[in-house]
Amino acid sequence: MASSTITEKQPSMDQAPTGGVFEVNHPLIQLHLTRLRDESTQPALFRQSVRRLATLLAYESTKDLTVCKTSVQTPLTETEGVELDKRIGLVPILRAGLGMVDPILDLLPRAEVWHLGLYRDETTAKPVRYYDKLPAQHPVDVAIILDPMLATGGSAMAALMTLREWGVKKVKVVSLIASREGVETVESQFPEAQIYVCQVDPILNDQKFIVPGLGDAGDRIFNTLDFD
Ligand code: PRP
Repeated sequence: MASSTITEKQPSMDQAPTGGVFEVNHPLIQLHLTRLRDESTQPALFRQSVRRLATLLAYESTKDLTVCKTSVQTPLTETEGVELDKRIGLVPILRAGLGMVDPILDLLPRAEVWHLGLYRDETTAKPVRYYDKLPAQHPVDVAIILDPMLATGGSAMAALMTLREWGVKKVKVVSLIASREGVETVESQFPEAQIYVCQVDPILNDQKFIVPGLGDAGDRIFNTLDFD
């Protein structure tokens, strides 16, 4: 996929997106992403920036959720309101995805949270599963995979496959940063998935790290950088 394809898929408020990669271009996103990229950003500010970006991406990535009408009593009269009409599941990929859960739950207070444990093997860069407690039946209507980083795309695709097997019909991936190679790989294997990112970076280096990137989000969120 060429970069122009990403640009073409800039989401607009009046059009429900289908599958594809949506690079959400906004000055506030660029501002807080710069804090994440900065190697001098300490864990507290890093976590805060993750939360702010997760909120901004949640706003954009949920604009096609459907609602049903409800009534509400204001202090003055009864009027119309809305409720979300679908079961929504947040699917954080452990560990780093945990940093995005609370700000999105603030916006979707009735969402369910289904954790998936995946880490990337340091030698092979392939995802290794270590936690999955999805029930056999009753899939959510809409699943939102949360992971700050999409590098090779292996972890995202493992999560997408798990959700497909669960029977989820509509899946979104919300990542703060991605590599071009990674989003192209995921898009080719799961063309129906909507991938929302702050920015798609051009390079995946020999160690399969996103460049320029932001380092390892999990280590920077949980302050474990010096123990690898
Ligand atoms: C990182 C990141 C993603 C994955 C991305 O997790 O949070 O889950 O790697 O890489 P991929 O697209 O090549 O699969 P990591 O393995 O560092 O685990 P952690 O969240 O526990 O830090």
